[in-house]
Amino acid sequence: MICIPITARDNDAAGEQISRAAPLCDIIELRLDYISRPDVEGLIRSRPLPVIATCRPGREGGLFVGEEADRLDILRRAAAAGAEYIDVELDSVAELGRAPARRIVSHHDFEQTPDDLGNIYQSLAETGADVVKLATKANSVLDNLRMFELLERSDRPTIGLCMGDDGRISRILAGRFGGLLTFAALDDASASAPGQLTVQTLREMYRYERITPKTDIYGVVANPVAHSMSPAIHNAAFRELDLDAVYLPFRVDDPLAFYAAFRHIVKGYSVTIPHKVTSMQAMDELDPKVNEVGALNTIVVRDGKLVGCNVEWLAAIEALEAGIGEDASYLRGRRVLVIGAGGATRAICVGLREREAIVTIANRTAEKARRLAVDLGAGWLPLADLRSIEADVIINTTSVGMHPNVDACPVDVSLLRKGMVVCDIVYNPLETLLLREAKAHECAVVDGLGMFVRQAANQFRLWTKREPPIELMTDLVMRILKSKA
Ligand code: ATR
Repeated sequence: MICIPITARDNDAAGEQISRAAPLCDIIELRLDYISRPDVEGLIRSRPLPVIATCRPGREGGLFVGEEADRLDILRRAAAAGAEYIDVELDSVAELGRAPARRIVSHHDFEQTPDDLGNIYQSLAETGADVVKLATKANSVLDNLRMFELLERSDRPTIGLCMGDDGRISRILAGRFGGLLTFAALDDASASAPGQLTVQTLREMYRYERITPKTDIYGVVANPVAHSMSPAIHNAAFRELDLDAVYLPFRVDDPLAFYAAFRHIVKGYSVTIPHKVTSMQAMDELDPKVNEVGALNTIVVRDGKLVGCNVEWLAAIEALEAGIGEDASYLRGRRVLVIGAGGATRAICVGLREREAIVTIANRTAEKARRLAVDLGAGWLPLADLRSIEADVIINTTSVGMHPNVDACPVDVSLLRKGMVVCDIVYNPLETLLLREAKAHECAVVDGLGMFVRQAANQFRLWTKREPPIELMTDLVMRILKSKA
């Protein structure tokens, strides 16, 4: 079930929020502590769907100011008016006494997810609660796992959620582990607790109602992770193919501890900065390409084993070939100038070697170009010495030209010749200065979007063995980029 908290500050606005929330959720939480003079009876009698009446005191994160006796009286009135549930805090339950509504006995911890979650659960349950509610702050992705275990062990209807950004996944997966409900905000402005997602995101992107114990879980391992477009892309692809799967953002500090804890729950990961190299140690098997690239970016969980893979090299090469309408034979014997010697460069050069291209690496720090070139059997040059080079293809693998430095170009434009292929891994903006100049010189251009989308597409293919909806994924990324611009 999805519950939308009504957080309006007066009765009229609360009525308006209730009408908006009704078609989007199964139950509402009427936060009576948010309204200075709540019309308890009026709001509850006209409810279009079941109500949890809550009047939270400051000590548990609420806004109620006044006498404890008055607060409990509001809850009694809510019960008498017909609220399906009243939410009462552990330390008030005895004083409240019996009321003609089911009692949610709750405990909130805004600092941490305590070690003794089980004992707290026990104390809540022993009050004779009809529903136990525990909401604690997650300080690490691992805290969610303890909440999931608690939900699975619970002996009565239970709401168990972790608050804060690190607790988001508990809000998305509540139903999968047997939680009675999850809370979602009506809109961006009306969240009632840290980390709450909007009901739109929860329903449309994560398809909350569809998630059951059978749903396959995937996700991106990164730090930070909030900016990642991957959840939007993969979830849209799962939806398009009607797969019973969900893709989550995991903000991970310690990847090794994370994989050990989540290995029985998650079926596959995208891995990105800063965990692409460290994650290799946690794998049971490594695809040979991972050692060549020196990093993984995809994990498939196969028969309980973590298999590390790298699809970056393939994504880059396929995007280049598709971008100019050529097949896998195009790059053989072509002279390719690669600008940069960072992490992305190596994956692309491995792909170029696979296609038997003749590669020259040019970098601002020449020594890095030399080392990478020696390692990969390529040629190299300092970036400042490019004048003499003849190339069929130029690939920029640096961040030069990326927003906000959109007036920067990684190479002197005098290098550009009609008929060359020029490719940029930067996708924000889609048309970098390099690509604009290349077009003006009648070169074929390939922007960074294709590479980005094809990484996701190749991961999708590895996990699901299904053909990914590349066009849909591309359109979505374009829309997200436009909305951010
Ligand atoms: P990674 O790709 O591993 O994340 P990075 O730091 O993003 O690493 O790599 C960036 C690449 O862009 C490097 O090759 C870097 O050149 P140096 O090795 O000389 O640092 C290159 N780069 C970044 N800014 C640059 C600039 N203003 N001009 C030229 N090259 C630049």
